Amino acid sequence: MDKEFERIVHLLKEKEEIGQALDIPVQLRKGLLRQVVGYADHFLDTLDERKAYEASGYDSTDTDQGFEVSEIGSEMDAMLDFIGERVDTTGLNPASGGHLGYIPGGGIPASALGDYLAAISNRYAGNFYASPGAVRMENAMIRWTGRLVGYKEGFGGNLTSGGSIANLTAILTARTAKGVKGKDLTQNVVYLTQQAHHSLAKGLNMACMGECVVHRIALDSGYRMDIAALRKQIEADVHDGLKPFLLIANAGSTDTGAVDPLDAMADVAQENGMWFHVDAAYGGFFLLTEHGKQMMRGIERSDSVVLDPHKGLFLPYGSGIVLVRDINHLLRANSYEANYMQDADQQTLERSPAELSPELSKHFRGMRMWLPLKLHGLAPFRANLEEKLLLARYFRHEVHGLGFEVGPEPDLSVVVYRYVPPTGDADAFNKELAHTIQQDGRVFISTTVLGGAFMLRLAVLSFRTHRKDVDVLLEQLGKLTR
Ligand SMILES: Cc1ncc(COP(=O)(O)O)c(C=O)c1O
Repeated sequence: MDKEFERIVHLLKEKEEIGQALDIPVQLRKGLLRQVVGYADHFLDTLDERKAYEASGYDSTDTDQGFEVSEIGSEMDAMLDFIGERVDTTGLNPASGGHLGYIPGGGIPASALGDYLAAISNRYAGNFYASPGAVRMENAMIRWTGRLVGYKEGFGGNLTSGGSIANLTAILTARTAKGVKGKDLTQNVVYLTQQAHHSLAKGLNMACMGECVVHRIALDSGYRMDIAALRKQIEADVHDGLKPFLLIANAGSTDTGAVDPLDAMADVAQENGMWFHVDAAYGGFFLLTEHGKQMMRGIERSDSVVLDPHKGLFLPYGSGIVLVRDINHLLRANSYEANYMQDADQQTLERSPAELSPELSKHFRGMRMWLPLKLHGLAPFRANLEEKLLLARYFRHEVHGLGFEVGPEPDLSVVVYRYVPPTGDADAFNKELAHTIQQDGRVFISTTVLGGAFMLRLAVLSFRTHRKDVDVLLEQLGKLTR
């Protein structure tokens, strides 16, 4: 053996010994698992004592010290203490049933078990060739969701990291399907309302469609798109030589939970040859309830739709779904050619997520959705969603009884309300009210501005939110306005 080769053999042994630490030996692995599961159990068992919001962790004295990594490893016990102190007791606690702001979700434990399994086997769910089982599982989730929406055979979709990326995917697909070229952008019109989620405006920019004409259509008294105003605007645009391109509906707006008149909007889209997209990131899984089905009649006529399992199915963050009624449009929007993919390309039994998304390597997201649905069955999901619809009505009735002004009867599980004091500035009063409740932290509420007025918002969607949590808020609101 020459010297250089000997050196290589020696180095290989040395590096292997050091690197082996990553494949944790069985006894140590069992110990680490016990520690991590112990921490997680303690977190869950003490949730009732934990605040929904901790106003700590934001000041400049609270530095990033302790977050840095170095050549030398650390003890798990110390790390878990650190996480407990510096991560899990600062800011908003999305696992708390007291989270009544934004659009909460919760993070069902069964999903964490799915994530654990997915990460341990690290199945590559991007391509049927690489993991037929993982892809079948993901496609089964897409098929179940598509049927829930009411799509007929021929649809396709993708499990994304969330609603924003799902909306972006839908916009890019719409652009490809309608053949919108860069030179035509200023002629193409997008219609939505002020209630559309900001991820749609972001998505239009990211799809290089910022130069399109964007019309924000007026709202009716329920914060839904006014169909007469939409028709009038389209008529004016066509008269001006513009091309109606994309109509975007809310199926559960973030601010007020409003569901646009989907069926009537589908008519308008069809009559004008537009792509009809429904953002049901928040509201979509209410389709599991009778009320939701009634509210979202017409959603099955959309060209694309977005639903977020990390909202309406209570999964931990990191799960959105985009569905496209005709899978061919999604395929075309993501088409590619690469020599090194030739083995994969021969497998066509099932469509592969990598063909339907910009992602190639990706998290095996199907497992975190499939495992809880299969383990629990649909009944507890449906019951949770029905309970949230009822809680919103319960709250609206009760807060009105306390003398608050309330918004319209909720379409889903968001209620807007505010207190108008006999004297003084109502906006300032409600701002202070929200601040006081947030600082107390037992429950967390958010705020918005509607028609120029500062409003308080109740958004119920955590599987851990029950009547007792809403009663804590009602009691606080009662005390603060007495
Ligand atoms: C209606 C609606 N659309 C889109 C989104 C964006 O989803 P994500 O936060 O999963 O990116 C949200 C988020 O709250 C939403 O409420």
